[in-house]
Amino acid sequence: METFCLKPRIYFGSDALGALEALAGKRVLVVTDGFLAKSGLLDKLKGALRGCTVEVFDQVIPDPPLELVARGVHTLESAQPEAMVAFGGGSPLDCAKAMRYFSARPELPFWAVPTTAGTGSEVTSFAVLTDQEKGVKYPLVDDALLPDAAVLDASLLAGVPPAVTADTGMDVLAHAAEGYVARRASPFSDALAEHAFALAWQALPAAVAGDLEARAKMLLASCLAGMAFNSAGLGICHGLAHSLGGRVHMPHGRLNAMLLPHVIRFNAKEGEAAKKYGRLSQLCGRPGTARALASGLVRLRESLGMPARLTESVDRPAAARTALADRCTPDNPRAAAAAELETLLREVV
Ligand SMILES: NC(=O)c1ccc[n+]([C@@H]2O[C@H](COP(=O)([O-])OP(=O)(O)OC[C@H]3O[C@@H](n4cnc5c(N)ncnc54)[C@H](O)[C@@H]3O)[C@@H](O)[C@H]2O)c1
Ligand SMILES: [Fe+2]
Repeated sequence: METFCLKPRIYFGSDALGALEALAGKRVLVVTDGFLAKSGLLDKLKGALRGCTVEVFDQVIPDPPLELVARGVHTLESAQPEAMVAFGGGSPLDCAKAMRYFSARPELPFWAVPTTAGTGSEVTSFAVLTDQEKGVKYPLVDDALLPDAAVLDASLLAGVPPAVTADTGMDVLAHAAEGYVARRASPFSDALAEHAFALAWQALPAAVAGDLEARAKMLLASCLAGMAFNSAGLGICHGLAHSLGGRVHMPHGRLNAMLLPHVIRFNAKEGEAAKKYGRLSQLCGRPGTARALASGLVRLRESLGMPARLTESVDRPAAARTALADRCTPDNPRAAAAAELETLLREVV
């Protein structure tokens, strides 16, 4: 038996922030990062929280560490809010999800408002946290992490810098491509992954150039890809990206962009995955092979000015062992031993 489950109610469109009216008059804790708190975007969010008493936890940093979550739990418990709103990219969303999860009030109403496109965290049971002492990124996976509501308002993405748009956009493509071939993929997740991949493939270059309509398409693609991988799982591209992301300071999407073409070539030795990669390639108007998909992604990455390799050195055997133990790795369509993961790492570091 297989299952497919959808949880958050999704509000989208130009007036989507208006849905926050549902929280009117409540005590609300907003979780965000320092940049967003100062950028004017937070004021836009506060404007939609009519009559609310708003407390802001704005200490989130990229790849949120465990200590930060512990501080956030403390703030949450002393603020005693009636609802939480996570506002930002994947880092604030994941930090807020983990704060609620580890607090004494895991049932607190939780709204997610993404400002990057992105992680799809607004619709996933994942929160990726970093153990800075061990240099490891852990995906925490539990349905209790799912937000109650997600608000997609593309106008919030107008000022995202081109490099962040490129990094986060490649994360969308990695979610769709990995989720499409993952072991737990189903006809439901396939439909979402196919549409997300084709939409992001077409929209990403214009989104990076600043086109607002393309950014709206990327926000939609990000959410669709999140719904796909939340059900299907991911694979070794994310397993390896988490392992490297715990060791070096590099945006998550940029690591995926380096790894994905190599992972596609590796997985294409498995017949069903090869066929599905070919179908994705065809949906993007390219030849229907895994090889064409991988080379198309390399070309896209180059056209966006993104690197093919890390410049730092990394302990590859140790990084391969961490990737092997990652929660995403077992969903990969082709089994990979530590030695094979180390060979893949050699391509990027
Ligand atoms: N939970 C999930 O399902 C999931 C999936 C994939 C990745 N992740 C995790 O999410 C994190 C990455 O999230 P991210 O890629 O969204 O980056 P991020 O949240 O770390 O943000 C990156 C940068 O973009 C800035 N930014 C965000 N919104 C902006 C806006 N509207 N305008 C201008 N600047 C803006 C931030 O201030 C920050 O400097 C990683 O920890 C990754 O592992 C989570
Ligand atoms: Fe990701």
